Amino acid sequence: MALDLDAIIAEIADGMAKVEHRGRVADYIPELAKVDPAYFGMAVATADGRMLCGGHATTPFSIQSISKVFALTLALGKVGDQLWNRVGREPSGNAFNSIVQLEHEQGIPRNPFINAGAIVVADVNLGGHQPRVAIGELLRFVRYLSGDDGIAINEAVAASETMTGFRNMALANYMRAFGNIHHAPELVLGSYFHQCAIEMDCRQLALAGRYLMLDGRHPGGGRVVSPRRARRINALMLTCGHYDASGDFAFRVGIPGKSGVGGGILAIVPGRASIAVWSPGLNASGNSQLGTRALEELAQRTGWSVFSPPPD
Ligand code: DON
Repeated sequence: MALDLDAIIAEIADGMAKVEHRGRVADYIPELAKVDPAYFGMAVATADGRMLCGGHATTPFSIQSISKVFALTLALGKVGDQLWNRVGREPSGNAFNSIVQLEHEQGIPRNPFINAGAIVVADVNLGGHQPRVAIGELLRFVRYLSGDDGIAINEAVAASETMTGFRNMALANYMRAFGNIHHAPELVLGSYFHQCAIEMDCRQLALAGRYLMLDGRHPGGGRVVSPRRARRINALMLTCGHYDASGDFAFRVGIPGKSGVGGGILAIVPGRASIAVWSPGLNASGNSQLGTRALEELAQRTGWSVFSPPPD
């Protein structure tokens, strides 16, 4: 039986609008604390070219750590597999901003999605340039992926994190001491904070993720990455995309996903759909509480999972 995706998404969005306990909005970046937890948005871009939306799907939000997926894609394009000499590919089992493993592991972060790993990726993407050059490149990349030149950086969010990003400063300086950061930490962080402050709405984010559902192809023609690279990025999203809650996300939702503290999640059903959800309230692991719930419900109702044969 054909899926009535429109009805499923409308029902999920209606249900989420009524939930009382919506989690806690991130407040360690003061500008993010101002966002109303009542928002819920969802957008699904399908492999056959449809776009289905529910709730506040066209309200922009701070993509935060979801930017790490696009930054990783760019870094792999620049240095290829050499990246893996500087960043691991294992789940960390720790919080996104943890420093504890770095000393044991000689300044090599566990994976590119924890903050330490993403800061190394930002260092690679800096490539001897000023932060504005690297940020311009990343912005052009997400605009190209989503086909939308309106995507921009929220400077107030970038400034807010620059004023309060003491942990990230510690991580960058600590890795610099191990020789795993090659530029001045303040330049790397300038670039990293701005990439996290990119604003997108669910619609734009679902469009930007299409190359990961299409084995690396851009739906407009041409290739963004090789099929092998797309699969590997999806594998990292599944195993590391939700930090110490990645196992639980795989268990409950069963598809690759990457969360951000702005409350967004990008999730990929290979060959089927690129999905973006957004609800600013976070659970204890720093991932969107209702976003995760909505994806769990969507996966259940569509049968989408990387652990079972595709539904008819
Ligand atoms: O570096 C930070 O703390 C933020 N800019 C991004 C963290 C984040 O989104 C973690 N994800 N759930």
